[in-house]
Amino acid sequence: MKLLKLVASAVALCAVFSVQARTFDEIKKDGKILIATEGQFAPFNFFNGTTLTGFEVDLAELVAKKMGVTIQWKTLGFDALLTGLRQDRWDLVIASHGITDERAKAVTFTEPHYCSGGMIIAMDPAIRTAKDLAGKVVAVQTGTSYLENVQKVSAIKEMKNFPTDVDARSALNSKRVDAWVTDRFVAKAVVDKNPTAGFKLGDMLFIERIAAAVAKGNQSLAQGWSKALAETMADGSYTQLSKKYFNEDVRCN
Ligand code: ARG
Repeated sequence: MKLLKLVASAVALCAVFSVQARTFDEIKKDGKILIATEGQFAPFNFFNGTTLTGFEVDLAELVAKKMGVTIQWKTLGFDALLTGLRQDRWDLVIASHGITDERAKAVTFTEPHYCSGGMIIAMDPAIRTAKDLAGKVVAVQTGTSYLENVQKVSAIKEMKNFPTDVDARSALNSKRVDAWVTDRFVAKAVVDKNPTAGFKLGDMLFIERIAAAVAKGNQSLAQGWSKALAETMADGSYTQLSKKYFNEDVRCN
């Protein structure tokens, strides 16, 4: 009896504290989907003045349209994004998250919206490969897949973490670090925009599939998103958007 009471109160407590993720049907009924991103990761998600934009922002708008909902955007620090899904503070996150086993324990990933990898960037043209990182100080954004992959390069001198990728880049620019590891398309865009700054693109350290994420187990929303994403990939709108940002189609193949 005592045990039963204990179980009953435990269940009641869980009901109070666990907020249920909204299903795709509930979101459709509401007409609005709450999507969180960072807004500091050009050309994927960034601010142009006060306007949130980027490949992922524009793509999400295309996908949402096909899902029959409008997006309400939220921008937060990269670190807070996946955690907020667990607390059901927003429905979906799109912020260039690579699909990793570790993250997949905590959230449910949709189908990937692009494929990329972590690239080495330096000012010194002699730093190009993982081997060249031996004895060097490397900058990465906190909480990223770059961090765990740079950590695997055992011979590095030090890894410095920065709250945003922009800060990591600045550290390289001002030569406070020897190298920076970031997304290959971010790196390319930085070199294109600052051709005289002296950034040198090196090798890719690893490759990854990038996807949106929803609360763990929210299959209906993940499937609704993935289906709409597939439609953008089939009707030419994905390709058009991808070419606008990257001059190529960045989908996984
Ligand atoms: N692709 C990397 C990862 O999976 C970096 C993502 C960074 N995204 C951002 N919005 N800063 O961790």
